[in-house]
Amino acid sequence: MYTTLTFAFFLLLGLNFPKAKGMCYLTQQHCVCSLSELKTFFTCLPATTYELRGGNLSRFAGFSRTELDANEIDILEALLVSKLIFTDLIVPEFFLPLALKVVSYTPLISELEFVNCTFLRSADQVGIDGFDLKVSSLRFHKVTADPLDDRLDISSLQNWLETLENLTVTESQVTSIPCKISTVLKALHFLDLSGNHFQDQALETSFCKGAFSQLQVLKLHGNNLSSYETVCQTLAHLNQLTNLDLSQNDFLPGPPFISCLWPQSLRVFNLSSTGLEHMDRALPPNIEVLDLSNNRIFILDLSIPGLKELYLSNNRLQTILSIKSLPGLEVLSIDHNQLSQLPAEDLLHWKHLKSLRAGLNPYNCSCKQTIREIQDLATRKALLPDWPHDYICRSPPDYQDFLLNEVPLSSLQCNKASVVRQGSVVGLLICLHLVLRLVSLPAFKS
Ligand SMILES: *[C@@H]1O[C@H](CO)[C@@H](O)[C@H](O)[C@H]1NC(C)=O
Ligand SMILES: *[C@@H]1O[C@H](CO)[C@@H](O)[C@H](O)[C@H]1NC(C)=O
Ligand SMILES: *[C@@H]1O[C@H](CO)[C@@H](O)[C@H](O)[C@H]1NC(C)=O
Ligand SMILES: *[C@@H]1O[C@H](CO)[C@@H](O)[C@H](O)[C@H]1NC(C)=O
Ligand SMILES: *[C@@H]1O[C@H](CO)[C@@H](O)[C@H](O)[C@H]1NC(C)=O
Ligand SMILES: *[C@@H]1O[C@H](CO)[C@@H](O)[C@H](O)[C@H]1NC(C)=O
Repeated sequence: MYTTLTFAFFLLLGLNFPKAKGMCYLTQQHCVCSLSELKTFFTCLPATTYELRGGNLSRFAGFSRTELDANEIDILEALLVSKLIFTDLIVPEFFLPLALKVVSYTPLISELEFVNCTFLRSADQVGIDGFDLKVSSLRFHKVTADPLDDRLDISSLQNWLETLENLTVTESQVTSIPCKISTVLKALHFLDLSGNHFQDQALETSFCKGAFSQLQVLKLHGNNLSSYETVCQTLAHLNQLTNLDLSQNDFLPGPPFISCLWPQSLRVFNLSSTGLEHMDRALPPNIEVLDLSNNRIFILDLSIPGLKELYLSNNRLQTILSIKSLPGLEVLSIDHNQLSQLPAEDLLHWKHLKSLRAGLNPYNCSCKQTIREIQDLATRKALLPDWPHDYICRSPPDYQDFLLNEVPLSSLQCNKASVVRQGSVVGLLICLHLVLRLVSLPAFKS
């Protein structure tokens, strides 16, 4: 029986038995095999995931097969495997279409993954006829290959690519996707291109007209994008897009509020670690989750009625008053900013607020009443998940480094009324203005 299973495995890889020998381990339903001269095999019959790990497949050149006989096809059709993974391998390109053809005989394989693989350019191209592949999810992580552009003939793969739903190509130094592939990926819902070298210009060609028309989730974090406006204009046609991750790109300051319309369908928008100082860029109108953490934002003026989650950790904000115009907010993170107090009374008016992370700010612990109010938010309202360990006084000097819940309230003097609040600065200016007007009246001139 072992022989049959091993045979099935190599069959799956499109390799000719007995030249290919290996060793397989089964843990849970995951079968891992490595190429070697050893002949110890464990049964992989119940496995739903098959993984081939380590080795150079070049040495099987000339032993790969293009045709299978009826018995072999029977074996493939009986396999339970749904996911096939290739890890740490050197893979000559000729091997790929063959492997895909063999995979097309297995009824259940829906996921194909290549992790840390190097694809070697083959001298001669192997032509194969079209086949019916049921793989809906394809993932490449840390792979290297020669650019495909000049010699790519996707005609035999076209039927399959038109049905592919998930594509991941991460940390693989990719700079663009040829438009002729992007437009064929008509059914793609999920595209992860994180950790590559996409720049604004290449993004425009990759997302050419008609490309990825069904896309719902797009991850572009950790690329080389620099113009927020260009990215917006490039992606504006993706009218099914709900989730966009642009985090870890370095956006340059640009013209504020330039007219670009993000897709109306966008709900989750990630701009974490993108070097932003002001959020004066056009935002998608219907977003529910916005991540602006790890930027240098010190001014914020948002008005997004449907916003439910706002992440502002690690910025330079001194006040949260400008966030008042977000009536639907449920989750707010504003830890690691420059807040010296929390406007607790205002916060109580946010009916939907369930969680407020506001620790690691330089709190001013001079006022009894302000501290009481924060304690109240934390204990009675149970709003602060990071209370009390992250709430530390920066001033006054007597209580520096005290936790807010350890400051002896009885020793504090200041009443809230004597605190100059943001709003009353305007009042002061008006008074000043009136006084100046008054002194300039003729009656006061002697
Ligand atoms: C893999 O095998 C091929 C053919 O045997 C050889 O040319 C190539 O150098 C090998 N690559 C590595 C990295 O060992
Ligand atoms: C990637 O695969 C090569 C063999 O192709 C291996 O030598 C190397 O250790 C692997 N790297 C990692 C990080 O697993
Ligand atoms: C596509 O990927 C997403 C996210 O990883 C996953 O939830 C979904 O099940 C995948 N769909 C298919 C068809 O593999
Ligand atoms: C991407 O940006 C980094 C940092 O700015 C730079 O070092 C790198 O060369 C860029 N890569 C490409 C492919 O442009
Ligand atoms: C945004 O992306 C960062 C990584 O770049 C991730 O840590 C964070 O969880 C993402 N935010 C959301 C709301 O998914
Ligand atoms: C802290 O608040 C008190 C009372 O409002 C004020 O007098 C003091 O200047 C503030 N300290 C700092 C460092 O802002």
